[in-house]
Amino acid sequence: MEDPLEFLRKVKSVSIATVDNNRPEVRIADVMLYEDDKLYFLTARGKPYYKQLKANPEISIVAMDENYVTVRVKGKIKFVDNSFLNKMFDENPVMNHIYPGDTREILEAFCLPKGVGEVFDLSTNTPKCERFAFGGETVSERGYKITDNCIACGICKDSCPTGAISEGNIYVIDNLLCLECGNCYEKCPNDAIEEPLEF
Ligand SMILES: Cc1cc2nc3c(=O)[nH]c(=O)nc-3n(C[C@H](O)[C@H](O)[C@H](O)COP(=O)(O)O)c2cc1C
Ligand code: SF4
Ligand code: SF4
Repeated sequence: MEDPLEFLRKVKSVSIATVDNNRPEVRIADVMLYEDDKLYFLTARGKPYYKQLKANPEISIVAMDENYVTVRVKGKIKFVDNSFLNKMFDENPVMNHIYPGDTREILEAFCLPKGVGEVFDLSTNTPKCERFAFGGETVSERGYKITDNCIACGICKDSCPTGAISEGNIYVIDNLLCLECGNCYEKCPNDAIEEPLEF
């Protein structure tokens, strides 16, 4: 697909989760700017959203377009210089109506400089999923994996809803097509399938 971060900027109004003590919180907020591989946001100092970010900068974002393509990203935000606010207002003129004149002084700007993410494309009957990283982060490969313990019995192939498994001396999973449903893992008689590393 196109750049997944550009995708988030285009969708613009996304779901952003924060942590409130140990509980998840989520709300709609805008990706106001995408510049130098970083996503930029703003919020107001009076909001729980802001207070949660100050206490814990970890966020998780998800958005979907009209074709059922979704992008999910997570990482640690950094508050940035308020000069970015002017840039965000220029790129999103509606902000001048929501926070007119000096009222923008209550706002704070922050960015997501690095993180990991996943594209889940449900635009066709064959869902495809890929991981990506940005800003110098790395990400482990997704999908279940078949190991050398495989005795080529074929049970996993018959149990896979997406046809992601092909036969061979050792069977192989196409990780782009793997839904990570775990059915092959549960059915394998020889413990030859490994779970994916956490995203
Ligand atoms: C389309 C849309 C875009 C929004 N964009 C933002 C935003 O960029 N920043 C923000 O602080 N609030 C934004 N809001 C408002 C928040 O969703 C709302 O203030 C929410 O209550 C904040 O979360 P909190 O209650 O956890 O602080 C937006 C709301 C909508 C409907
Ligand atoms: S079910 Fe297990 S042993 Fe059988 S083919 Fe699949 S991975 Fe190999
Ligand atoms: S985890 Fe599910 S989708 Fe992935 S290969 Fe196994 S059965 Fe197929």
